[in-house]
Amino acid sequence: MTVLAVVVSLLVLYFLPSEGSNGGVNSVFSKEGYLVGVGRADCTGPIAEVPLMGYGSLDQSGAGIISRQYCRSFILAERKNNTKRVLFVVAELGMMSQRLRLEVMKQLKDKYGDLYSHDNVILSGTHTHSGPGGYFQHTLFLITSGGFIKPSLTATIKGILKSIEMAHQNMVKGHVFISTGLAENCQINRSPLSYLQNSDSERHRYSSNTDKEMVVLKMVADNGQEIGMFSWFAIHPVSMNNTNRLINSDNIGYAAYLFEQEKNEGYLPGKGPYVAAFASSNSGDVSPNTKGPHCINTGEPCENMGNYCPIGGAKMCIARGPGEDMFESTQIIGRQLYLTAKEIYMKASKEIDGPIRSAHRWVDMSNVSVQLNSTHTGKTCKPALGYSFAAGTIDGPGMFNFTQGTLEGHPFWDAVRDALLVQPSDELVECHKPKPVLIPTGELTKPYPWHPETIDVQMVTIGSAAIVALPGEFTTMAGRRVREAVKEEFEIQGKAGMDIILSGLCNLYTHYIATYEEYQVQRYEGASTIFGPHTLSAYMQLFQGLARAIATDATQDLPNTPEPPCLNITNLNFLPLVIDAKPLGRKYGDILQDVQPAYKVGETAEVHFIGANPRSSAENMATFTFLTVEKYDNVSKSWQVLYDDASWDTRFVWKKGKRSQSTSIIEWRIPKTTGSGMYRMRYFGHSKELFSPVQAFNGSSSTFGVSN
Ligand SMILES: *[C@@H]1O[C@H](CO)[C@@H](O)[C@H](O)[C@H]1NC(C)=O
Ligand SMILES: *[C@@H]1O[C@H](CO)[C@@H](O)[C@H](O)[C@H]1NC(C)=O
Ligand SMILES: *[C@@H]1O[C@H](CO)[C@@H](O)[C@H](O)[C@H]1NC(C)=O
Ligand SMILES: *[C@@H]1O[C@H](CO)[C@@H](O)[C@H](O)[C@H]1NC(C)=O
Ligand SMILES: *[C@@H]1O[C@H](CO)[C@@H](O)[C@H](O)[C@H]1NC(C)=O
Ligand SMILES: *[C@@H]1O[C@H](CO)[C@@H](O)[C@H](O)[C@H]1NC(C)=O
Ligand SMILES: *[C@@H]1O[C@H](CO)[C@@H](O)[C@H](O)[C@H]1NC(C)=O
Ligand SMILES: *[C@@H]1O[C@H](CO)[C@@H](O)[C@H](O)[C@H]1NC(C)=O
Repeated sequence: MTVLAVVVSLLVLYFLPSEGSNGGVNSVFSKEGYLVGVGRADCTGPIAEVPLMGYGSLDQSGAGIISRQYCRSFILAERKNNTKRVLFVVAELGMMSQRLRLEVMKQLKDKYGDLYSHDNVILSGTHTHSGPGGYFQHTLFLITSGGFIKPSLTATIKGILKSIEMAHQNMVKGHVFISTGLAENCQINRSPLSYLQNSDSERHRYSSNTDKEMVVLKMVADNGQEIGMFSWFAIHPVSMNNTNRLINSDNIGYAAYLFEQEKNEGYLPGKGPYVAAFASSNSGDVSPNTKGPHCINTGEPCENMGNYCPIGGAKMCIARGPGEDMFESTQIIGRQLYLTAKEIYMKASKEIDGPIRSAHRWVDMSNVSVQLNSTHTGKTCKPALGYSFAAGTIDGPGMFNFTQGTLEGHPFWDAVRDALLVQPSDELVECHKPKPVLIPTGELTKPYPWHPETIDVQMVTIGSAAIVALPGEFTTMAGRRVREAVKEEFEIQGKAGMDIILSGLCNLYTHYIATYEEYQVQRYEGASTIFGPHTLSAYMQLFQGLARAIATDATQDLPNTPEPPCLNITNLNFLPLVIDAKPLGRKYGDILQDVQPAYKVGETAEVHFIGANPRSSAENMATFTFLTVEKYDNVSKSWQVLYDDASWDTRFVWKKGKRSQSTSIIEWRIPKTTGSGMYRMRYFGHSKELFSPVQAFNGSSSTFGVSN
């Protein structure tokens, strides 16, 4: 630093307004600003017996809870004309589903008329793999969810609507700042061989095979009060592996939790006015398991493509890290993302200004013609999954002996497919080449279509920031191409310098979108690019069309296909009936194994109760907690609740036993900062015995001491 630089810095500091609650930099607003509202609501679904959405494993059903799932919304409106607005929702779910979107939009229409429409509402999912499924209407997703799970759908709809309602009611005059920064050491590309298929010249324009840039929007009210932070980053929330059965929001959920805990001091988790959300981006091939793939039985590094584990093959090849176990890994990655977001947030000084616009259209993605170059056209296909879909990834391997990179079908599995499902048409097979078709979902319609074909393509702009709503998981390079194509289209239309934000897993789920080159080697992401090799080119063309329509004020003229129907699904629920029982002469909530009389900070306090199926508590999940950790206050002579089941320091584990009996375990990982004193842990539940109504009950551990 030169002397001049020091002098200049001192002068700048001297003339800056003093640091206030808003970080100083933003207390002078140079732009007109918007109307800004944020909201957060609990949208946790059933925490037991419903298969978790993500790894596609029916064995991996819920059996307790580490943290709650939240839905978070922001609304931005023009001050001059507040009907020009956008609503963006981040839900801590495996992904958004078409069913959810249709139902939420219907209820928004009933409540707010035309204020919120398909055009200006983006619903996104964070992609946690540790939330219950069952909120879908297409058969493939119903199969991996244990059916159509009404309590799951209902909790999510309620939570999303509640968070929107809060944002709607909380709107104040405010300002929005945008900033970006790099998050290092929290990602690896899990399909590097696919990535290498992209041309040298394209790859050489980037320093990494993942996008490390995080985008942050900071929202501040006119009076200087900070109200919210929404961010986007490309990472799979799969720090939790497919053996986890405790509901939680994974690494980016933990980041949101830490951010909100800091801003909402004194509130229990998930409470308090400040809202921080971490949304997905082009994370298709991005793993958080930074130690990379190793054979879990022998410890050797493996790569899951031509280089399998010597014992057990491809399904032993699993990535992990950076922590000792998946829980620690989740927290390390989550903390890193939180710290990065905070740093970016602190220095956010570029205020967004200008009109708010939005565009949405329905597209039949099974039939889009793509102009590849001046002489050639291509076409998308009816949906189908390739062989390597069944291989899974290094974050969660698949079944049997399927391996990534499979370019040819196998007579055995082809015969199984033809017998159990349907033989794919020649047209479908031809269209998807070189993908060998394993599940011809586009030709399966019973009992309901297996995959959506009418797809949401959507974009909103807030001044110079454009949010592109990606209807699936775009790989790193696929996302970069969309970002460039959209940016370039805006430039052509005279709007240079737009910030293009890629928002992943929006509106519905269509699996992956790999580049044409990546598709050729058919790793998991390519095999899961369901509309065929030209899927990405089709989306680029469609998003450019939206950018053009927004830039030229022609969104009314966008072509559309009819809105897809809400399918009438009844009686498609494969969950066991809820029936509780308890040992003779005892009560639900009785202690089976008590706490120790005393613990030191850093230890884990644990108590076991006679339990009941947590599904009976699903009705009022949002206002209910399975547990509390309470401290005795010897001044007021009463118990103070310090934690509930939303805290990452507590766990509620439910174990189903014999003869309908069950055990509920409550654990508290006593933080180092805990003050010494007397504590207890309480358990709340609902029992449902055969021929009896649901009954609320509770239990408590003995009092125990905590010391430093
Ligand atoms: C506000 O914008 C809407 C479109 O979003 C338009 O129909 C309406 O005429 C505008 N109102 C005013 C007062 O400009
Ligand atoms: C999942 O993570 C745990 C550590 O938390 C580890 O013991 C287990 O082997 C992992 N399993 C798989 C299938 O990745
Ligand atoms: C596919 O789209 C073309 C127009 O691009 C249309 O003529 C044709 O009927 C469509 N095919 C189907 C099966 O919808
Ligand atoms: C256009 O694309 C086709 C198919 O990828 C290719 O064979 C052909 O060489 C390309 N033509 C030009 C002029 O780039
Ligand atoms: C996969 O397993 C099936 C059934 O066990 C067997 O018939 C087939 O040969 C195996 N395929 C490969 C590529 O090992
Ligand atoms: C849905 O299906 C059920 C059973 O098939 C039928 O009774 C009901 O009328 C249907 N509802 C609608 C809205 O079509
Ligand atoms: C109240 O609690 C504090 C520590 O939490 C302890 O030092 C003090 O002795 C207690 N007083 C009574 C009356 O128990
Ligand atoms: C706990 O259970 C007892 C006994 O059934 C009941 O009186 C009390 O209201 C319950 N407490 C809570 C907080 O639910």
